[in-house]
Amino acid sequence: MTSRERFLAACAAEALDRPPLWVMRQAGRYLPEYRALKAKSSFLEMVRTPALATEVTLQPLRRYALDAAILFSDILVIPEALGQGYHFRDAGGIGMEFRMESRAQVDALAPADAVPERLHYVAETLGMLKRELAGSRALLGFGGSPWTLATYMVEGGSSDEFERIKQLFYTERGMFDILLEKITSALIAYFKLQIAAGADAIQIFDSWGGIIAGQDYETASLRWIRQIVAALPPEFPVILYAKGTAPHVLDQAFTGIRVLSVDWTNDLAMVRRTLPANVAVQGNLDPVLLNTTPEIVRHETTRLLEAMRGTRGHIFNLGHGIMPHARLECMQALVDTVTNWR
Ligand code: CP3
Repeated sequence: MTSRERFLAACAAEALDRPPLWVMRQAGRYLPEYRALKAKSSFLEMVRTPALATEVTLQPLRRYALDAAILFSDILVIPEALGQGYHFRDAGGIGMEFRMESRAQVDALAPADAVPERLHYVAETLGMLKRELAGSRALLGFGGSPWTLATYMVEGGSSDEFERIKQLFYTERGMFDILLEKITSALIAYFKLQIAAGADAIQIFDSWGGIIAGQDYETASLRWIRQIVAALPPEFPVILYAKGTAPHVLDQAFTGIRVLSVDWTNDLAMVRRTLPANVAVQGNLDPVLLNTTPEIVRHETTRLLEAMRGTRGHIFNLGHGIMPHARLECMQALVDTVTNWR
């Protein structure tokens, strides 16, 4: 069976001899070949130039026997397409062009129809990747969740306390809802473009789902995700990643997604037992393990594989993105352990 078939079988919660494997942020700064390309082109240039984005996407697949490729891009291309650009702050983290503070600024955002044209380069990149991969490995598209994107837009970039987005949520719910509706419509147009261009699955990153009060997670985040899933083709593999939302795994599983990607603080085998059998799980090794030693990686990877033995519907991954200081030999140990396990 090809890697692509293995990946899609896991999404459909079918029985497999070993889980498929990919790694969040598998293309990035821990790879010397990525750093070499980035010395010549900026991150934004690489994202916007289909030949470069294709090359960066394929870099980890040349080195490692991963079962899926993930489009090289960023979740912030959506705010950018709506009229709010982004950059990297010298001190680290994201800076947006301005803060989304007024109803007039929300009204001035571009309509969802503008997305396919403004993000046409993503469709081109996916088309190039589809041809390069020729069905050998799964091809993943992705985007941020409406809530996670709204945090960047309203905070004006990366944030520690998320005070502004919470202020907006609690004091101006009408404006919050209009902003989230706009982002949701843009994401629906964007994911349809990715699916039309050949994505086999879409991952939605609700990276900041865990910062809102538990009783408000539904209203702040989950309801918008449910709308997105409902607007995509029935049964299309949508993967939801959320960080710090362990109490909500069942509600997340019932949004219509096919795969729930679980962070490293959760017990994956327990989540597997809790969820309906037709919803797969993805995860969830602690990314920091890849900054330790190959022996430790082999040991912890085997422990997780054994804990999941006999279950259906598991995609092996980390519990969050790989870190810039990850060691290549640790990544190799992860790949060897998962792909040789039976
Ligand atoms: O997984 C992959 O290999 C695909 C590429 C990918 C990137 N960003 C490339 C990237 C994906 C899936 C993302 C998603 C993303 N971007 C998320 C959600 C996932 C998560 O980590 O929770 C978020 C919150 C962002 C926003 C973002 N982009 C941040 C916070 C940063 C780091 C900024 C910093 O302090 O350096 C980025 C930059 C970014 N996106 C890099 C990469 C490879 C690093 C850019 C570089 O310096 O080369």
